[in-house]
Amino acid sequence: MNKIHLEVDKNGKELFHAAKETKPQYHELSRERTFPNEEDMACEAQLSALGVFEPLDININGWEKDEKLLEDYWVPFQPKKGKSNDRESILIYGPKDSHPSDPCGLAQLARIHGSKPSEMSMTYATEAKDKVQCLTEALDYFDFGRTFLVRLNAGGHYPPHRDHMLLTRPTYRLIAFLGDSTGPLRWEVEDNLVHFEPNTLYYVDTRKTHRLWSSAHRSSMLVCNVKKDWQNVLRLMTRLKYQG
Ligand SMILES: [Fe+2]
Repeated sequence: MNKIHLEVDKNGKELFHAAKETKPQYHELSRERTFPNEEDMACEAQLSALGVFEPLDININGWEKDEKLLEDYWVPFQPKKGKSNDRESILIYGPKDSHPSDPCGLAQLARIHGSKPSEMSMTYATEAKDKVQCLTEALDYFDFGRTFLVRLNAGGHYPPHRDHMLLTRPTYRLIAFLGDSTGPLRWEVEDNLVHFEPNTLYYVDTRKTHRLWSSAHRSSMLVCNVKKDWQNVLRLMTRLKYQG
């Protein structure tokens, strides 16, 4: 019998496992890829000044209604061989002509393309974008690369990791908490439990080690990669909840 969450999804469909990842040898990468330019330094210094987990004042209202329209799109998010991890995703911005149910984890995309594609090569809205009306204000404000909905079901987790190591990262991260998962969902940045409000969008400094897990089904989030340039850093500052 096939094993659910290990070999097949809950509908019996074979899982599309992530490519096995090798540890990057940063000291062997080219200076061009690793050495920050002036724009990197300005953006990173300004982002560092803002904090590690900062709420924005962008309105999110009506997730429960939108969620019903999305039910058929959810697919397992980045399953890994031999590991049970009940996470599901829907692609919102991806490669050209992509579908909401396409794989959206970078290690899954690496299996398709041979290497991890650039976040900012995935700027095309899927048909799901217009179905999440509650996110219209957010999704029309920034310049987005790969962006997806993810939900953790009971036991679903992300182990400790960093999304970026280098100051040359092409994008920064925003995370929206959709509906009320404040009880079952736990988020830690640098081993500190962070507080989040339902239906709120946050800038998260995911250069720092973070981890999360859920004890119930449907802990839903929007994970955004925003183009890291001075314009998008200033847009973020304009919409910080706490100012002045
Ligand atoms: Fe992360």
